[in-house]
Amino acid sequence: MNLYPNIAIDGPAGAGKSTVAKLVAKKLGYIYIDTGAMYRALTLQALRDGVDMHDPEALGRLAGVTPVSLRNGEDDRLRVFLNNEDVSEEIRGPEVSGNVSYVAMVPAVRRRMVELQKAMAEKGGVVMEGRDIGTVVLPDAPVKIFLTATTPVRAKRRRDELAVKGSIFSQEQMEEEIIRRDGIDSTREADPLTKAPDAEVIDSTFFTAEQVADMIIARVQPAG
Ligand code: DC
Repeated sequence: MNLYPNIAIDGPAGAGKSTVAKLVAKKLGYIYIDTGAMYRALTLQALRDGVDMHDPEALGRLAGVTPVSLRNGEDDRLRVFLNNEDVSEEIRGPEVSGNVSYVAMVPAVRRRMVELQKAMAEKGGVVMEGRDIGTVVLPDAPVKIFLTATTPVRAKRRRDELAVKGSIFSQEQMEEEIIRRDGIDSTREADPLTKAPDAEVIDSTFFTAEQVADMIIARVQPAG
């Protein structure tokens, strides 16, 4: 039994998973793990190598030889690396966002990422967010949350996030983009985005990230 029980947070794009997971990790002194960033880093490598996004074999091979890792940066923020290159900013760009769902649907890619993610959570004390954490990566996590929010609110959050970085999208464009991506993520055959039967649904539409983080922390019982 881990002294610090792992926390699994899943849900669709823009539900607030990253903001909330980071807050929970900070408040509990846990390690924050953004699994989407790993799929994004691999997508960036595929784009750089000119790999066909609809060639599952090539993408699976790439996953087997691409060193993707998460490390804490100097500012204590999670950074994403391809080899020794920090790609944390680049993986948020529209080209990666537009293609990552194709990479994430490949079973061999998922097997590799899940293996790395399980290893990271082995000692407990992690808040891990993604799409298949409660169902596949950490099925035994004592705290499982499925975070949702209405589509307009999710699109607005994504827009605001990107606007800070200088990319401007209309509300309509953003809604279309997240509906498209959630559609692919939820209907793929390998580990689709679904709520684990024992996960608790939290709708973040009318709550601040701080409030949602506190709701999650209230569900954490230290193992005794
Ligand atoms: O959370 P995000 O937007 O950074 O995730 C990027 C993509 O990766 C998203 O389209 C779904 C996919 N993903 C996944 O399939 N499984 C995960 N555990 C995390 C992300």
